[in-house]
Amino acid sequence: MAQYLRLLKYALPYRGRIAISIGCLLIASLLNALSVASLQPVFDGLFGGEGSRQLLSLPRALQPLLGDWVARVQGFLRAHQMSVLTFLAWFLLAVLLAKAMVNYVSVYLMKYVAERVMADVRDDLYGHLHSLSLGFFLRRNTGEIVSRVTADVDALGAAVTDLLRNALREPFTIVGLVILLFVIHWQLALASLLIFPMTVIPIVNFGKKIRRRGTRVLERRAELSTLIQEGITGIRIVQAFGMEEYERRRFRAKNSELFQAIMRIVRVDSLSSPVMEMLEAVGIVVAVWLGGYLVFRGELTPGAFMGFLGALASLYVPIKRLSAVNNNIQRGMAGAQRVFDVLDQRPEVAEHPEARQLPPVNETVTFEQVGFAYEPGRFVLRDIHFQAKVGEIVAIVGASGTGKSTLVNLLPRFFDPTEGRILLDGVDLLEVTLASLRAQIGMVTQDTILFDDTIANNIAYGLSTRGGTARIQEAARLANAEEFIRDLPDGYETRIGEKGVRLSGGQKQRIAIARAILKDPPVLILDEATSALDAEAERLVQEALERLMRNRTTFVIAHRLSTVIQADKIVVLEDGRLVEMGTHPELMAARGTYFRLYQNQLQEA
Ligand SMILES: Nc1ncnc2c1ncn2[C@@H]1O[C@H](COP(=O)(O)OP(=O)(O)OP(=O)(O)O)[C@@H](O)[C@H]1O
Ligand SMILES: [Mg+2]
Repeated sequence: MAQYLRLLKYALPYRGRIAISIGCLLIASLLNALSVASLQPVFDGLFGGEGSRQLLSLPRALQPLLGDWVARVQGFLRAHQMSVLTFLAWFLLAVLLAKAMVNYVSVYLMKYVAERVMADVRDDLYGHLHSLSLGFFLRRNTGEIVSRVTADVDALGAAVTDLLRNALREPFTIVGLVILLFVIHWQLALASLLIFPMTVIPIVNFGKKIRRRGTRVLERRAELSTLIQEGITGIRIVQAFGMEEYERRRFRAKNSELFQAIMRIVRVDSLSSPVMEMLEAVGIVVAVWLGGYLVFRGELTPGAFMGFLGALASLYVPIKRLSAVNNNIQRGMAGAQRVFDVLDQRPEVAEHPEARQLPPVNETVTFEQVGFAYEPGRFVLRDIHFQAKVGEIVAIVGASGTGKSTLVNLLPRFFDPTEGRILLDGVDLLEVTLASLRAQIGMVTQDTILFDDTIANNIAYGLSTRGGTARIQEAARLANAEEFIRDLPDGYETRIGEKGVRLSGGQKQRIAIARAILKDPPVLILDEATSALDAEAERLVQEALERLMRNRTTFVIAHRLSTVIQADKIVVLEDGRLVEMGTHPELMAARGTYFRLYQNQLQEA
């Protein structure tokens, strides 16, 4: 129930349109009832046999009230049979036309609201995703997340559409028709509607099943979406290893699972209509039998009998539809649940309610007994304790997988330390706003992240000086990227494709370095920033970086120890622990881990 309310809350801003739409539904229902109801008494009057006993088939209760009047109307009808019939035809046409128009307005508005709600939910969802911490994304597949914003919202949208349109309309139609039945002959109505409450049982049961199975379908769909994502982005490797057939089989298997899951819904869904029809048959049989008997006894005119049967038959249309609508709504609510699950996620790296602005860092960066575990209990970093001063270059070295990237990822608070704390100028990172913290950190990450935008915009990413062409070019020049950018068809305005696919690895890295140079942050993190460059390009970039490193604190991770030698402080990690720290000569003299690393590299070279 809470979920319905939550969903309807999204519709609340559009309540004006919903009200108009419901108004139109009401009018349409009235017109519908009118088109049925107006015919029957008049037809009796028009075509009924001679004789004063033959009255308009008005409800008995009304007849004495109208008394003499009824006879007079009847006389009038008989006298002007043809013109009354013509009038009736026109009247009917007008009513049906009006109904069609009112229906149009109502359907249009409901669809508008449903689509608007979906768009709003998508906006909310995507916005919320960006408030979540990196950890959320690492624990889930991209396809899964994409699927929540697309397929799941679509499913939810179907629920909104049906909730607003049919779930609101059909009850009106039902109530109108039930009233009509009771007006015609209330005992007969009672008898033939006895079965009516029973319809609730299959509606509810089918709905529950469909909700559960709907969730399965969405999960399958998300898995499929992940598979597609992986298969397409990894196409290079798929082809290189000749894995096309394997990928196709993998897809076929998942696709077939999705199909099975959908069929499990279809089985229930298609069952609901026949079940409702059976219940309907019982009601109609009762009405035929009992109604026929009443006609024989002269308690019901044949016209009223036909009208009754007509109304009863049309009553089951909305009931059947309501059951189908409930199935759809339940499927949609499965999507809504998944959407709300994401919306209810709180970022692990939360900003303190009284977080303050971090003033520009100009003294120290301190790690105090920092420990970190991605998963509870499995520590990747332990007891990291050191201090870096402004202007210093801190190199972090160690074997692959010892936690170097993890260590530097703690600085911009992609993750928070599991133990200990990190201080900038003596201020705990947890006490400052994320924006003011991250504004002071420039990062060139291990895998270069670029966007499908122009070179200029990629370099200026996140900076307000988007138009400052001169500065962008200066940054590119320092990053040794100017030359290749010049050679591109549109220079700085060249679009580089998704993730920068139209650039080489080294070119991408230089764009990322230019980005960091332009940002000009007090704290700079270079995680294998030059690993994809050749020796000559690296030397040039290195020069630029050295200029960049002045007057700020720089953390450098590099496999090539040549870039590490001139660091002011070398932090050596082994299995997540800080085992050595010092300058190159000091560590060489100590003949420990660093010495071994260095020796190994010399041998390779
Ligand atoms: N998201 C994650 N969830 C769980 N464990 C992770 C995650 N990311 C990294 N790890 C683990 O943490 C350890 C440290 O990883 P990290 O990326 O910090 O190593 P690294 O020193 O940067 O290695 P490299 O030199 O290869 O880049 C690794 O053993 C890795 O398996
Ligand atoms: Mg790394």
